[in-house]
Amino acid sequence: MKMDSQKQVELAGQPHLDRQRVPHHVAIIMDGNGRWAQSRHLPRVAGHQQGMQTVKKVTIAASDLGIKVLTLYAFSTENWKRPTAEVKFLMQLPIRFFNTFVPDLVAHNVRVMVMGDTAKLPDGTQNAVQGALDATKNCTGMILNFALNYGSRDEIVRATQKIAKQVAAGALAPEAITEEFISQEMMTASLGQFADPEVIIRTSGEERLSNFMLWQAAYSEFVFVDEHWPDFDGESLKQALAVFQSRHRRFGGLKNK
Ligand code: IPE
Ligand code: IPE
Ligand code: MG
Repeated sequence: MKMDSQKQVELAGQPHLDRQRVPHHVAIIMDGNGRWAQSRHLPRVAGHQQGMQTVKKVTIAASDLGIKVLTLYAFSTENWKRPTAEVKFLMQLPIRFFNTFVPDLVAHNVRVMVMGDTAKLPDGTQNAVQGALDATKNCTGMILNFALNYGSRDEIVRATQKIAKQVAAGALAPEAITEEFISQEMMTASLGQFADPEVIIRTSGEERLSNFMLWQAAYSEFVFVDEHWPDFDGESLKQALAVFQSRHRRFGGLKNK
């Protein structure tokens, strides 16, 4: 196929997304809502509100690309340190999100899952989450996995306690604690073969994990983008995935996989 010269100029130097090789599990640290709002002289929560619209757009884009699991870091175990009013707003967002978006999720055959210490969320938030889990439980397409009150150290502590209890009860030999066994105790165990994200994208220019998927990220590729989360969209996702595809993944060996 012949491309017109304008298009050729636009795409020059940009990695091209190969749709046959999209990663199965994409995880996103959705950062920069506050800065997006502040740069517009708006309250921080306006950024969270706009960020919710981005979640909708990016979910549909990811589903259309054939991604199997999209994990979104929505609230960390450390985010409780923020002002009460902001935390309150963030706790109401899942209610607003699921109230308006569950029919679209079902229409796209998207199944909602959640990981994190959800028992500590307010009742209304827990109910909204449960409603979305129930409404989408028969969907067989992409899994939209929200990390809500999630912290990877908390996840590892819980897994360790569960395993230690089994050992203390004499039900488990320490030698039986393998990598696979530990993976089974992580909050991503229900994702099965897709538990580990091939790529972790973080928006807003920060280059850190902030307690996200420490166990699962052992061989993840990291893609950091400068855009704030409310400015991110399906096109940004495709660009980030093209960057992922340009990487050489060797897993300690010599061959690029
Ligand atoms: C991400 O945006 C949303 C959450 C962490 C809940 P931020 O609220 O962290 O935005 P910045 O990083 O302050 O700009
Ligand atoms: C990480 O972002 C948590 C989420 C995106 C939910 P933060 O904005 O909380 O991370 P730090 O504080 O900049 O490390
Ligand atoms: Mg932030």
